[in-house]
Amino acid sequence: MRGVAANIAYRPVRNRGTIGGSLSHADPSADWISAWRAVCDLDRLKAETIVRVHVAGLDVLVIWNEGDIIACDRACPHEQADLGLGQVRAGRLYCPRHAASFDLCDGAINSGWSSPPLRLYTVRITGEQIWIEMQERQPRR
Ligand code: FES
Repeated sequence: MRGVAANIAYRPVRNRGTIGGSLSHADPSADWISAWRAVCDLDRLKAETIVRVHVAGLDVLVIWNEGDIIACDRACPHEQADLGLGQVRAGRLYCPRHAASFDLCDGAINSGWSSPPLRLYTVRITGEQIWIEMQERQPRR
């Protein structure tokens, strides 16, 4: 188990920059900072495959994908179905409403569908604890 945790620690998510980029322009009167939030432990994630969490005001999924940990929005970007009721197979998250699927490396929907990508979050693990990086609004001083 320790070997698995070491292999996935600090694994980068490819679309990391889109989160801060879009939020930082949403409200020029606020500063946005990143904050790491503890979401669940590794044993729970392995047992459940998909863990639903509410963190920093957002509904997020933490997913166990063949030895990797992925965090993404819970709402499907196509028509907001609950992806927490979906299935994970071969590196893709399948939406329960229309059965379209999202690549868990970059959030892209499969061909034939028109949808923004699924928002992914950067994940890290310390010991058995899984953390995700959130962008949070901070009032200016
Ligand atoms: S609502 Fe998820 S694919 Fe349509």
